[in-house]
Amino acid sequence: MTQVLRFSENFFFGAATAAHQVEGNTSNQWTDWEIDHADEWAHRGPDTDYGLGSMPKAVYEVLKDQIHDPSNYVSGIGADHYHRYEEDFDILCELNLGMYRFSVEWSRVEPDPGQFDQTAIDHYVKVVRALRERGIEPMVTLWHWTVPSWFEDQGGWTVDGAPQLFERFAGRMAEALGPEVTYYTTLNEPEVYTVQGFVTGEWPPGKVKSVKDRGKVRQHLAAAHRLAYQEIHRVNANAQVGLAQSQALWDTPFGLSWPFRKLWTWFSNRDGNHWFLRQLSDHLDFIGLQAYWHGQWRFAKPPQLVATRAMPKPYRSDLGWSQVGRDVHRLLTGLKQYGKPVFVTESGLADHADQYRAQYIDESLMGIYQAIQAGVDIRGYLHWSLLDNFEWDKGFWPQFGLVHIDRKTLKRTIRPSAFHYAEIASARGVKVEA
Ligand code: BGC
Repeated sequence: MTQVLRFSENFFFGAATAAHQVEGNTSNQWTDWEIDHADEWAHRGPDTDYGLGSMPKAVYEVLKDQIHDPSNYVSGIGADHYHRYEEDFDILCELNLGMYRFSVEWSRVEPDPGQFDQTAIDHYVKVVRALRERGIEPMVTLWHWTVPSWFEDQGGWTVDGAPQLFERFAGRMAEALGPEVTYYTTLNEPEVYTVQGFVTGEWPPGKVKSVKDRGKVRQHLAAAHRLAYQEIHRVNANAQVGLAQSQALWDTPFGLSWPFRKLWTWFSNRDGNHWFLRQLSDHLDFIGLQAYWHGQWRFAKPPQLVATRAMPKPYRSDLGWSQVGRDVHRLLTGLKQYGKPVFVTESGLADHADQYRAQYIDESLMGIYQAIQAGVDIRGYLHWSLLDNFEWDKGFWPQFGLVHIDRKTLKRTIRPSAFHYAEIASARGVKVEA
């Protein structure tokens, strides 16, 4: 029997992007980093571990030309969203989506220290207006991992005074956007940035196992959030300011008989999933949850604990990540302790053939529905991503978009799963087999 799980009139169905991944022609610390590493990344083989395992062989066969092409790893024109945002917002309308999360590119707005570029600021004012004209609620992210090169050159987030520079930028944007914007996420997945930038060294600034710097950067990012939170509220009393926090669902294999792994799983949850939320809970109007990963810890040689995939009925995305849409329910109920409204500000998967996306959306929404029933105040689901985009050190080959982008012509083609999502958004309900 088919049952429909209905969402309230106030629940937002939406989608998300980030400036460096879609705008095109950005110039920041990542632009330099990707140019320096493109050749190296293009030489990665099919067995490369992209986080939680390697890509399925069939995916490699289809995408190998892109995977081994150095130009895949340079963001370049991106999806040219900077110029085509109106066309993209028309697609949001066609898909019945009511909220759009995007980020402001700090390096455009403040290309030199203290020098703000009015044309760039006006661009984002126009972006917000274009959304409002279409009845779409904007959610503005102020930092999605990229910073101006001058900021990085003077030591980036490791330097005392960095939070105040971010506060100044945040204040400038809040003033320019005024009452047109209610929802802000200050920082995107700060803990992911600290691990990739200061532990694995895979992302700029490329420091490896730099525990001291990572600690400093965490403190500075937390301070940056607090200052921006206050500054945005000073300018716009009605603003709702949150943080986009990535959470991985960690399982302990073999239960309690492995106390060390159990302990490590507990630590991963506490340290990775909740550190920033604990620090900032008195400066959050809502929590943005970003859900992608379901992992386990296992022992490997040389003796070490490594993250692995080994989950029940996972979708193995093109990146080899095991993803179970419904898992979001467990993460959401874990947020109940903070007593804040929650948006799922990102969740999605790399799926060039669009095999699993529709099912993933259904199951994610089922998980969200279940968490609402369990008393979590969930306000919306923003699928990652609206558009195929530049997936950081993996470049363009992983395709997360509801909308496919042709890399040569930049033509937009709406994927079947997006039409499926559009039906859900229009009915404000997801069908399940009871
Ligand atoms: C990030 C996005 C990224 C997505 C998929 C999230 O952690 O915020 O920028 O594209 O994951 O990897």
